[in-house]
Amino acid sequence: MQSIEKTENAAVESPAHEDAFFDAEVDPSIVYPSYKSFDEFIDVERLRSLDGYITQKIKRRIAAQSDYRFYTGPYRLQNNAPEHPGTRMIYLSYSEMPDSYFDLDRTELWHPTANASEFALLMDFIGTLPFKSTGRMLIMYDDVARPVTAHRDHIETELCHDFLWFRTNTKKPFFMLNHKTDEKLYVEGYTAWFDSVNQFHGSDPYDGLSFSIRVDGVFTDEFKANIPKPSFNLASTPSYWACLEKNMKNQAEFV
Ligand SMILES: [Fe+2]
Repeated sequence: MQSIEKTENAAVESPAHEDAFFDAEVDPSIVYPSYKSFDEFIDVERLRSLDGYITQKIKRRIAAQSDYRFYTGPYRLQNNAPEHPGTRMIYLSYSEMPDSYFDLDRTELWHPTANASEFALLMDFIGTLPFKSTGRMLIMYDDVARPVTAHRDHIETELCHDFLWFRTNTKKPFFMLNHKTDEKLYVEGYTAWFDSVNQFHGSDPYDGLSFSIRVDGVFTDEFKANIPKPSFNLASTPSYWACLEKNMKNQAEFV
């Protein structure tokens, strides 16, 4: 079957590649690359236990070759890097509106797809995450050793999406990138909430099947109340939080 292209990000709305190189001011405490792990807030053992279940189902879908191809959009680090790195996407929910990146958290628009029934145990797990409602939910996978081109998801610095990137194993070499210093920070654990605007993210090739899941939605009020927020550039909130914790830890060690 011929596969269909679909973008994971805001490419459709703003197609200028030059915009990938903007630099917006952020709170001086923020250092890139950085991300906030949610491993302390979720049931990591339950997540890991889904590894074989999800792997088996993805392998069946690879045989069927019917999943969407991932499109990086225009905000790539290098203009000559592939827009279609080869990653495939399985949508667990669909929007009743035409595709818009800025509807990811309009949770009332999103409804489960048939894939959600196929991945029922994953959906049960998603129900344990700190969301009061969910919007877009998708699995991204590749079974060939090729990179996911470093990119930003959009360029709206005052827009911060409540989302969680997570995985059932640590195979996918997923990184945040400071494009000014070329420093990469690989996600170490099973979860990440990250600034997808002021830094780049991508993945190195992995020889074999690798996959991750991204769920967008609205965090619970209780969870949101404990998230420290910068006074400007809200897109930097995950990095602001991560750097604040790192600084507090360093100070505690120094004392
Ligand atoms: Fe992305």
